[in-house]
This record gives sequence, structure tokens and C-alpha cells, in this order.
Amino acid sequence: MAARVPAVSALFAELLPGEPAPIAAELRHELDRPPPWMYPWPLRDGTGAPVHSDELVSVHQTRREMIEPVVRAALATAGPGARVLDLGCNEGLFAHLARTWGAGHVLGCDIRDDNIRRATAIRDHYGISPAELEFRCVDALTLDSAPGQFDLVLALGLIYHLEDPVRALRVARRMLAPDGLCVVESQLTRQRDPVVHGWGGSAQLHQTAASFAARFEDEPENLLASASGVLSLIPNAAAVEIAMQVAGFSGLRWLEATADHDQQYVIGDRGIVIGRAATGESPPTRAPLTRQGDPHLVPVGAIEAVLVRARDQISALSVREQEAVLMLERARAELAAAERRLGEAEQRRADAERWLADHRTSFSWKITAPLRAAKRSLIARRSASR
Ligand SMILES: C[S@@+](CC[C@H](N)C(=O)[O-])C[C@H]1O[C@@H](n2cnc3c(N)ncnc32)[C@H](O)[C@@H]1O
Repeated sequence: MAARVPAVSALFAELLPGEPAPIAAELRHELDRPPPWMYPWPLRDGTGAPVHSDELVSVHQTRREMIEPVVRAALATAGPGARVLDLGCNEGLFAHLARTWGAGHVLGCDIRDDNIRRATAIRDHYGISPAELEFRCVDALTLDSAPGQFDLVLALGLIYHLEDPVRALRVARRMLAPDGLCVVESQLTRQRDPVVHGWGGSAQLHQTAASFAARFEDEPENLLASASGVLSLIPNAAAVEIAMQVAGFSGLRWLEATADHDQQYVIGDRGIVIGRAATGESPPTRAPLTRQGDPHLVPVGAIEAVLVRARDQISALSVREQEAVLMLERARAELAAAERRLGEAEQRRADAERWLADHRTSFSWKITAPLRAAKRSLIARRSASR
């Protein structure tokens, strides 16, 4: 089935208060300055915020559809005073949605002042009280709110923009009340095969299903990206799972995308997983000390180790073969140049011989002609004197 192009109105259903209203000066200033916005906010004067890219609308709509049932259910269980933390909230769309889905108080945090200014301007434009929807400019990794005060934490589009994604998940876990729910949405790598790595000795090879891709974004102007100077670590699905387990979540469940959702979710380049802060469990402050029983870290067996080594040797040989081919090509080129130089030298020698032959004839003619003339005149003079 082809992916559906979602309408902006579906994304914002329930959000915009009906009454038309003018745009306040702060919001007007934000709307008029670059860069474009992350969400195409409908505005109360009938216009809308200029959005960063069209595909974003499809990504937002898919996420909305995938998380709405679980978020609504979690908030209903928590009751009317349910509290939500939205980490890396940007302009706050999902904070707004959490509020309309039943949260009594939502705190949205983002590291960028520009995002929080826009989030606040939109909230005020929509006439929502800061007591219900609060925005704070803070690094998610250093959030120092009181532990255990939220029923739900959203970490959408955040962890792959961090160089310490596990620490962010630990923050999320620390902020959750017992049995609270965390929704993590992330870009994922396509690394599905285990990665083989050394582990302390030449015979010590392991393979792990969980891996991260390292990417230096360095896009200070991009309000959606990593904070400046940060190395982003993009997880594969197994890395998200182990990171959440290590951070103290259990009962992990990936939410299913349907065929008409944004293709990134259908093919697995992005995914959404939920985990629970198990009842009565105190938030761990460090990773488990033992890796025994860790399904993601598997020692490489003897036969596999031989295979890995053989593969390494083959690749080393192929490097050497490439070097030998290069040397051969270099020698061939030098031989061709030498042959060319030899041909040119032979040509010059032949020219010289021809020149010599030509000049030998003319030289001898130049010498013998006067001699013959002298001889003729001598003979003539002798016969005259007789
Ligand atoms: C791709 S956007 C996702 C926004 C929103 N959560 C969503 O999914 O629609 C990533 C956001 O994370 C923010 N961010 C990056 N590093 C952060 C950090 N260390 N702490 C808090 N926010 C951060 C960025 O400023 C940006 O707004």
C-alpha cells in the first residue's frame, strides 16, 4: 500500500482553539525570521507556520497515530493529575498533544533557547496556561527536576542526537514514578548483523547485536539537530533495547507501523519502543556489573574465530595483491617509457647517419672538383708550353 500524505489538519486535530485571534508581536517576530519551523502550526489568524520540510508532516502524523493509544491509556491510568515530561520537545507539538490526551501538567524541555521561545509563543497564542504546559530551556542530560514525579516521559527524536543516549534514558527513568511509561522514538541504523570486536586478547573475539553509528552533525543553524559540537550516536534496534534495559526499563515493546505509515517506520529506519519503570524498582545509577545472561553479547566460538581470522587474512592478502598489481602497472609504464625513449634515440641516430651520408658526398665533391679543375688547367698549361 502506498504511504498516505497526511493533512496538516489531521495532525493538529483538537489542538487549535476555535476563536480567531491576532498574532502577538513575539510570535510574529518568530514567524518572520528563519529558519523554518518544525511543525506546521495552524494559527488563529487563518495562516500557518512555515514548515522545515514536507516529509516532517508525514513523520509527525505517523508518530501521532502510533503513540496516541498507548499514551492515552497510560494517562487514563494515572488519572486527571497525570504529569508528562517531553525531553527534546522542540516547539512542543507532542507536549501539546499529551495535554489534550489527558495530562494535567506537561513539562517540555529543549536545549535550544530558540525552540523554547517558539514553543512558548505558540502556547500563549493557543491560550494555554503555563501551569498546564510549561517549557524550559535545559539540556536533557542535566535535568535536575525531582525524581519520580512524572507518569510518562516522551523521548521522541532525541537519543540519536546525543553522544550519551544511555544517560538520557537514565534521566528519563529517574524522572518516572513507579510503573511510569517511557516512549522512545529514534532513527535506527540498518545494522542487523552482529558486530565482531576484539576484547582484550588476540583469541578474544566477541560479537554483539547492539551497535551505534557515529555521526558528527555540526549544524548549529539547524534547530532540529544535535547541540553544537556533539557526536551523535545512532543506535540500531538492539542497541535501543539494551540501552533501555541498562537504564532500568522493562517490558519493552516496539510499536507496529502499518503499511500506510511513513516509510521510515515501515522499513525500520525509525522505530518507537515503550518501556516501563517497574514497580518498586529503584532507578539504577549504573549498568549491571555482570554481563552474564546478556543476550546481546555473545562470545565468538572457536570455529567462528577461525573464520573471522581467515576472513581477515583474505582481506590482508587482497590488499597485498592490490599493491602487487599496482607495482606491476608501474613497472609496465616505466618499460613503455623506456621503449619510447629507445625508439626516439634510434630515430635520432638514423637521422644523423643520413645527414652524414649526404654531407660526405657534398664534401667529397667540394674537395675533388677544385682538384680536377687544377689538374685540367695544369695539363692545359703544359701542352701550351710544348
Ligand atoms: C529531531 S528534534 C525532535 C523534536 C521532538 N521531540 C519531536 O520528536 O517532534 C530533536 C530536538 O532535540 C533537541 N535536543 C538536542 N540535544 C538536546 C539535549 N541534550 N537536551 C535537550 N534537547 C536536545 C533539539 O534542540 C531538537 O529540538
